[in-house]
Amino acid sequence: MTEQITVVGAGVMGRGIAYVAALAGFKVHVVDVQHRALQSAAKEIASLFQKAIARGQLTPDEAYVVQDRLSYFTDLEKAVNQADFVIEAVPEKAEVKRAVFAALDRHAPEHCVLATNTSTMSPTEIGSYTQRPEAVIAMHFFNPVHKMPLVEIVRGLATADATVARTEAVARKMGKETVTVNDFPGFVTSRLSALIGNEAFYMLQEGVASAEAIDKAVKLGLHFPMGPFELADLVGLDTRLNNLRYLHEKLGEKYRPAPLLEQYVNAGRLGRKTGRGVYDYRGKEQED
Ligand SMILES: NC(=O)c1ccc[n+]([C@@H]2O[C@H](COP(=O)([O-])OP(=O)(O)OC[C@H]3O[C@@H](n4cnc5c(N)ncnc54)[C@H](O)[C@@H]3O)[C@@H](O)[C@H]2O)c1
Repeated sequence: MTEQITVVGAGVMGRGIAYVAALAGFKVHVVDVQHRALQSAAKEIASLFQKAIARGQLTPDEAYVVQDRLSYFTDLEKAVNQADFVIEAVPEKAEVKRAVFAALDRHAPEHCVLATNTSTMSPTEIGSYTQRPEAVIAMHFFNPVHKMPLVEIVRGLATADATVARTEAVARKMGKETVTVNDFPGFVTSRLSALIGNEAFYMLQEGVASAEAIDKAVKLGLHFPMGPFELADLVGLDTRLNNLRYLHEKLGEKYRPAPLLEQYVNAGRLGRKTGRGVYDYRGKEQED
């Protein structure tokens, strides 16, 4: 039975997962090493509640009750020592995931499931950072979490059936559809999305067309809901670059990150979260 979920990392994904988990009725602890990230997450979650009230999806009283289920921590031990289920959403870097999972292994209760929201990395490998690989699984949410219907579940070599069943049950309680896929770098969705997004950066770099023209062609000609640059700005260019570096290492040359993408990241143009990525969002109201 899962009642209390701890979300580790309050960035783009962690805050979305925390919001959806609280709406689903879970008691949610959100933990981040940066106090600033927690403040910004609390503000963004409050604004999602306001939008839900404005649309008539929640009454102010209901929103108050749901919001009360969320608490914020900078101390991982305090945030996880009562947890039934952890969802990790820290940066896509092996050394960061390793440190977090080693700490989770020390501090989370024995019955706790340790799920990672990794976009690309192997839950088998992440499980090996702990003494309880049977409790480790990938639970891949999509951005924005409250709008995207899918959770891609990836079981590692040692993941127990009970861990899969509990993860599916949590996803369903959050109102999500699931697909369960095999443990392979990038799974289904990130492997395809990284390739398309990277190719778009190569095309922009080669001068094939403007960013606007490439996005328009892909949306109206290929019937994608978003253009590759709109999506990259939403995902975060740093996150996309980390995904590509991992896939390049594991799957080979076709995933080599486009130099233009690396240049944008070096310039601090990380997408919507910094106000500027491929496009400029400064001074514009962010969509929900
Ligand atoms: N951005 C997306 O669209 C997207 C979609 C699906 C999956 N993912 C995956 O989700 C994960 C998180 O991505 P994101 O885009 O939310 O990243 P982000 O950079 O927006 O947020 C990461 C957060 O983790 C915090 N953090 C770093 N080290 C920590 C630690 N040791 N303990 C606690 N918090 C720590 C950072 O302070 C930051 O607030 C990555 O694995 C990424 O691949 C991202």
